Amino acid sequence: MCGITGYIGFREAYPVIIKGLQRLEYRGYDSAGVMLYDGKNINLAKTKGKVSDLQEKVKQEISNQGQIGLGHTRWATHGIPNDINSHPHVSQSGDLVIVHNGIIENYDSIKQELISRGYSFKSDTDTEVLINLIQEVKEKYQVKLGKAVQLALKQVIGAYAIAVFDKTKPDEIVVGRLGSPIAIGVGEDYKEFFVASDASPFIEYTKDAIYLEDEEMAIIKKGREVKVRKIKDDSEIDPDILELELNLEQIEKGGYEHFMLKEIHEQPRAITDTFRGRLLMDQAIIKMAGVEDNMKKFLNADRIIIVACGTSWHAGLVAEYIFEEFARIPVEVEYASEFRYRNPVITEKDVLIAISQSGETADTLAAIKLAKEKGAFVFGVCNVVGSSIARETHAGAYTHAGPEIGVASTKAFTTQITVLSLMALRLARAKGTMSSSVYRLHLQEMEMIPQKIEKLLAIDEQVKGIAKKYLLSTNCLYLGRGYNFPVALEGALKLKEISYIHAEGYPAAEMKHGPIALIDDRMPVVVIATNKGHYEKVVSNIQEIKSRNGKIIAVVTEGDTTVKDIADHTIEIPETEEAFSPLLTTIPLQLLSYHIAVMRDCNVDQPRNLAKSVTVE
Ligand code: G6P
Repeated sequence: MCGITGYIGFREAYPVIIKGLQRLEYRGYDSAGVMLYDGKNINLAKTKGKVSDLQEKVKQEISNQGQIGLGHTRWATHGIPNDINSHPHVSQSGDLVIVHNGIIENYDSIKQELISRGYSFKSDTDTEVLINLIQEVKEKYQVKLGKAVQLALKQVIGAYAIAVFDKTKPDEIVVGRLGSPIAIGVGEDYKEFFVASDASPFIEYTKDAIYLEDEEMAIIKKGREVKVRKIKDDSEIDPDILELELNLEQIEKGGYEHFMLKEIHEQPRAITDTFRGRLLMDQAIIKMAGVEDNMKKFLNADRIIIVACGTSWHAGLVAEYIFEEFARIPVEVEYASEFRYRNPVITEKDVLIAISQSGETADTLAAIKLAKEKGAFVFGVCNVVGSSIARETHAGAYTHAGPEIGVASTKAFTTQITVLSLMALRLARAKGTMSSSVYRLHLQEMEMIPQKIEKLLAIDEQVKGIAKKYLLSTNCLYLGRGYNFPVALEGALKLKEISYIHAEGYPAAEMKHGPIALIDDRMPVVVIATNKGHYEKVVSNIQEIKSRNGKIIAVVTEGDTTVKDIADHTIEIPETEEAFSPLLTTIPLQLLSYHIAVMRDCNVDQPRNLAKSVTVE
């Protein structure tokens, strides 16, 4: 995790770095720091807290002048979040400065070695060890910064995206990558360069970007081209300069109080964008390049294994139901973190689908590498274009949700389900497990989803009223069955991550095997009871909650009367095919957790201890 940024050019670096850090705060926000070089001195400010705290500190403590700078926003791994452990870190000589995203696993042995050579350390971080290792190598072999970084990185085990500055050679920044992302923004005529964990910090300055691959480094010299090299053997690489499609509007709040609310409201548009060029209603077909090109792999697959983490794992669970129902292909859904370490049985006849919003999640990436080694075909469902997972997989389909900045995932989830539903339908047709008339009906239903969500979003005020009643709850239970069991899990995750209320998601029928013991008149129970999803059975579960005085918040299909008579609150969703109902039932649960979190005065977009992009295992 952590966000890094840097600038070298003709502008004042400080505003560029600060704005960049604010955009990267989704990657971690427990401390922040900046280094500015004013032509003579290195000025450094670092603090526990957010980028706004850093701005205060800079105002009080340092000059903010200089056209070269590095910045960092941290999600602590080694060493608690405090001023000293914050980045940037400076080498013992005082000349070299580093910002780092990742973990140096063998930092302790390197540290002991450096201590024996007279180095001492101020912080508890692995990063301070790395910058001193670079210094040691530079002095020992009398080499330039680029070479010293390369030789030092060859000794390192772990993951990193780093940017390093050397006061004795102040016209360059050296960057390197293994396992954590890094993008270089290339200014006009190479007069300026930007470095960042993603392209968002520099999109208003340049649309030209180079994404480093793993085990690559770059020497960025003001006024000259970027030199990209392989860390392993020093061989030069001709880098691809990509044209970015991202625009500023996409990463701003656009009048909403929080990114999360904006992103909830963006779902109709995000799903429509995800359909574009794929759901071709005039021909009544689905076309997905990544699937068409690899149709044989899918059709011959013994099974599909889905790997993911967090919310993406919940989308995978929904997909399990849809793939098995529509395409009759056996599906297993795995937490990437478990899968990668349990010596799973994988064969060449397996297809592995990796789902990831960021495309950078370390465990998912490791699971992909493992499956590839064992010969499986690996398909990625990612949101971030050009991300590590998008590049590591054999083929894939993007979700086109646009940048998701709120840490709690919303539109990424519904667009993941959209892509996976389209895939399942396409495969069902190819396998002949769905008749053409049923297929056509499903396509029509899919196409209607964005407008149904648009209509559904009008429940916002009603949900706010319900939120008011339960904002002081300490526990909450979420129940659903079939396609909506994963939605119950996702609803519970949303509530706990942003409002810090303990919440559990359960298959409704499992309630009687444990959670029912928790129900009393202080326990809100959110139940998804759509009219086609084992409705009668879920109604019986609702009765069981009622008889134990639980407070029932039910998500029902419009026109429902039975549940309305029993539940304390009912929220109606438009009628749809049961398989697509998660795309609708999710919306009120997102809004409920959003409003409860706002009313509890929680930081909705940046909940404590979390980060959006989890690049550590
Ligand atoms: C973090 C985020 C979640 C996300 C999960 C997986 O925990 O806070 O919102 O679902 O990582 O991330 P990915 O980018 O792989 O979907």
